[in-house]
Amino acid sequence: MNIFALESSCDETSASIVLNGTNIKSIIISSQIKIHSKFFGVVPELASRSHIENINHVIYKALKEARIGFNDFAKKIDAIAFTVGPGLAGSLIVGSIAAKSIASVYKKPLIPVNHLEGHLYSFIIENKDIKPPFLSVIISGGHTELVIVKDFGRYRILGGTRDDAAGEAFDKVAKMLGLSYPGGPIIDERAEKGNPQAVLFTRPYMKGSWDFSFSGIKTAFLNYLKANHINNENQLNDLCSSFRQAIAETIVFKAFEAVRKFNLKQIALGGGVSANSLIRRMFKENGKKNKIKIFIPSPIYCTDNAAMIGCAAYLKQKKCGLDYSTEQLKSNPSLTLSNW
Ligand code: KG4
Ligand code: ZN
Repeated sequence: MNIFALESSCDETSASIVLNGTNIKSIIISSQIKIHSKFFGVVPELASRSHIENINHVIYKALKEARIGFNDFAKKIDAIAFTVGPGLAGSLIVGSIAAKSIASVYKKPLIPVNHLEGHLYSFIIENKDIKPPFLSVIISGGHTELVIVKDFGRYRILGGTRDDAAGEAFDKVAKMLGLSYPGGPIIDERAEKGNPQAVLFTRPYMKGSWDFSFSGIKTAFLNYLKANHINNENQLNDLCSSFRQAIAETIVFKAFEAVRKFNLKQIALGGGVSANSLIRRMFKENGKKNKIKIFIPSPIYCTDNAAMIGCAAYLKQKKCGLDYSTEQLKSNPSLTLSNW
């Protein structure tokens, strides 16, 4: 099945053509980083306007890369998938209108995809033979979730973000340091050159709960900045490294506690923060030590992209078919994860 997929939930406009869930025929991602970086975060109104300006071009390029023209679209594409939520209302609507228009012109079925399921299944693009159960660790700008995937579309949500998500914490700390947006990659790069033991930030393990809370580390970071002058690059790198260490240790500790407790043998990461080099290393090392199989998507599939939406859509239609109600196809900014 050839799926034409669109993603526009936040600040990336993306289109992809995905054959049978894992064969990526094309992937185009247009980032709005330049627009939002001066504001140190995504400005929703600017994001939706930018999606409107970019989406036609992104669609055109994705089709061209897959060698599909508008004349043979109907013959070569079987279904249109799009991100239905969660995300920014205006941004979601742009992708949804584009998907619905194309579906109506070419008389194709629509598959609504939960953005979280895009991240959750993104590792499958490069591991098509994986079988559940596995623990999914979704770490992005808006979410930090631990989910047991019992089967495709069958979830037990263990815990989630109580306040700042992991990516949000990276972004806010980068803002405090006057660095750019998104903060995660910049802090990661500096952290590689710093000493992770330079400043001790308390790890918010939240024992007895599977939830995550990173607002405390963020405040501790601010207090440290108020009390200490950062005079040179080395100090800045040490601070970034110490902060990254605290976030990574917290996520890795809780994920491995969960696989122990629930007797799982596989962990899959997803979301922008899984591009973090320390988090990737720590999961791999701990996986080896504890005999847990670790799946981490290539960086392009960690951050927002339409290929993961095409992959999730393929899995979903295998179970749920191709007939979705108007309600299911309606954009929902606060959509949560639910069973198929
Ligand atoms: O998954 P994503 O593209 O969008 C959401 O669904 O939120 O994630 C974006 C987040 C941003 O907060 C960004 O700072 C973070 O992922 N991120 C990283 C890295 N690359 C992106 N965080 C830590 N280290 C990275 N290398
Ligand atoms: Zn995302």
